Amino acid sequence: MKNMKKITTMELSGNKAANLARAVLEVNRQVWLTTYQNDSLGITLKDIESKFTDFDEEVKKNKKYYLENKDRKHWFAFDKSKLVGYCLAQIEDGVGKINSIYILKKYQHLGIGSKMLKKSLKYMKGVPIEIECAVYNTPTIKFYEKFGFKVIGEKKEKYTFPTGTKMTLVRMRKDREQCKE
Ligand SMILES: CC(C)(COP(=O)(O)OP(=O)(O)OC[C@H]1O[C@@H](n2cnc3c(N)ncnc32)[C@H](O)[C@@H]1OP(=O)(O)O)[C@@H](O)C(=O)NCCC(=O)NCCS
Repeated sequence: MKNMKKITTMELSGNKAANLARAVLEVNRQVWLTTYQNDSLGITLKDIESKFTDFDEEVKKNKKYYLENKDRKHWFAFDKSKLVGYCLAQIEDGVGKINSIYILKKYQHLGIGSKMLKKSLKYMKGVPIEIECAVYNTPTIKFYEKFGFKVIGEKKEKYTFPTGTKMTLVRMRKDREQCKE
């Protein structure tokens, strides 16, 4: 699958986004499984799966999120009718946040993430933007750096995996006055 032309990106909110809640969580689960296992840090498949044990409950929470946050922007990427990626952005207290950006592994590196991130940056024009990313997720850190994000610190994730590990996250920020667009 190397044909970006087949992929459609659309912005959906409210009921239309809520209807995708299960597919979104499935993309999220699959991308976590292919991205975050890490032998040297002791982050196992079981650890990753532990984030998705109560799948139906999480779907309900996701639906509620879309219905209660109609002002937030969500972009969804489809290959025909199949959801292959999504991006959630919000502005809170004058700071923009990319809450999630996930593309299925088979569809990564085709420009879908860049397309959705550009749309988010346009929506959050004029405000600084912060994101958090696992410290060992080097390709994604590079992806954000390409868009002018800089590492401003680190923090420990609140969630403890069943094996006792906590992820370390890098905090990255893009200050708009310094950027070109
Ligand atoms: C990070 C992510 C959203 C980027 O989306 P994408 O559609 O794959 O990215 P693009 O095709 O637009 O690539 C843009 C740039 O990102 C970098 N990049 C993206 N995927 C990469 C990969 N697998 N390996 C190395 N570099 C990568 C490259 O610099 C690339 O530029 P290039 O094509 O000129 O080489 C996507 O790869 C993804 O879902 N990754 C796993 C989940 C994740 O880390 N999400 C973010 C959580 S904070």
